[in-house]
Amino acid sequence: MSATLRPLIPAERIAARIAEMGQQIRADHPDCSITVIGVLKGSFLFLADLVRAIPGDVRVEFLGVASYHGGTSSSGAVQITQDLRASIEGHACLIVEDIVDTGLTMDYLLRTLQVRGPASIRVASLLDKPSNREIDVPVDYVGFTIPDEFVVGYGLDLGELYRNLPYVAVYEP
Ligand code: IMP
Ligand code: MG
Repeated sequence: MSATLRPLIPAERIAARIAEMGQQIRADHPDCSITVIGVLKGSFLFLADLVRAIPGDVRVEFLGVASYHGGTSSSGAVQITQDLRASIEGHACLIVEDIVDTGLTMDYLLRTLQVRGPASIRVASLLDKPSNREIDVPVDYVGFTIPDEFVVGYGLDLGELYRNLPYVAVYEP
């Protein structure tokens, strides 16, 4: 009954990819402050490293959402558990997620934030699991595309555990 963690993406590859993403994000937003919106909790490590890879002005906001309830498959229902503290009207926004799986969470976030009048909204996700998509969502910056397996580490959890792993691993029950 003991679970195995199979390393999938080592810390060095994550760091190298984030450095590229930071440059790309700045190149797509020349001369403007970027409001980076971290989706809690899973994005906290990715966000911390990504903002340090984006040259120039950045603001940091957080949004809490819950869609999973401790298991390894989505409940389909998304709810905001902590809203933004600041207005995003007129801001160039970048939503930062740990993983886009079914797409339901990102679709909900995009619809919720779009009505607040941002100048633009782009999406950065460390991981993308396109094979499990239920709704088409635009992901402008993808760190790594992965197969349909449940992963943990580098912010991603299973029942709140494993977020502190410095790499991404496949959880094999
Ligand atoms: P979606 O709404 O199905 O796209 O799922 C988005 C959220 O589900 C992510 O932000 C994660 O919190 C969680 N999630 C999806 N796949 C995984 C996984 O493989 N490991 C850990 N969390 C996951
Ligand atoms: Mg998440």
